[in-house]
Amino acid sequence: MRRVIIAGNWKMNKTISEALELVNGLKRELCDIEDIDIVVIPPFTALGEIADALTSSNIKLGAQDAHWEQKGAFTGEISPTMLKDIGVTYVVIGHSERRIYFGETNETVNKKVKSVLKTDLLPIMCIGERLEEREAGSTFDVIRDHIEGGLKGISEQDVLKVVIAYEPVWAIGTGKTATPAQAEEAHLYIRDLLKELYDESVAKNLRIQYGGSVKPENIKELINQEDIDGALVGGASLKTEEFVSIVKESAKKGV
Ligand code: PGA
Repeated sequence: MRRVIIAGNWKMNKTISEALELVNGLKRELCDIEDIDIVVIPPFTALGEIADALTSSNIKLGAQDAHWEQKGAFTGEISPTMLKDIGVTYVVIGHSERRIYFGETNETVNKKVKSVLKTDLLPIMCIGERLEEREAGSTFDVIRDHIEGGLKGISEQDVLKVVIAYEPVWAIGTGKTATPAQAEEAHLYIRDLLKELYDESVAKNLRIQYGGSVKPENIKELINQEDIDGALVGGASLKTEEFVSIVKESAKKGV
């Protein structure tokens, strides 16, 4: 059975003191949740303090990006080795905001996913179509392109460590969520694709999160879809009560 994973992507929000306040609230409220993976993904500047705050907690630490090289002359970049050193477990790669604003491509996503895996960290690889692509009927083509490009050359053994986050771009930060049926349809397509590219076992065991305006009001319906194994939460992960409620509802599926 696939273990449910709920991750909060804080994006470019929270100073260190604000981040600590949020994470201390989450620790208090979520300390007895054992059956699912809970991940917080603060900005780089807060990773050190949050790592300390999460020592011996059931909440794991994630980072929002990583460079594909481990060190060198890459001003402004952070390497997977540095993230591992600070206590990170998961690394988000290929978020649509990075694809849209910072020139991330399938090729760079692929190099980053491989580098993260090589460092023994777990990638959360984001994929998903834009509104115009959905309206043009090319949703599945975009999903195929992102998955084939992002996972190119990754072995069956390694691919099972990847979490895929299906995030339709038109649903991110817009308040517009994909309907549970739309999300399930995309997740099922991804599983079929994994079967084609790998095999039945990968298709059955790889975890696929949904992301895009997930909130306490819609998590129940989404998480109860057979092929949705969790959520990548943006806006609602910035408020203790909202993220707690999303995790608690999802934990019901984990049992
Ligand atoms: P949102 O962001 O929940 O604010 O829509 C999701 C994401 O970008 O991962």
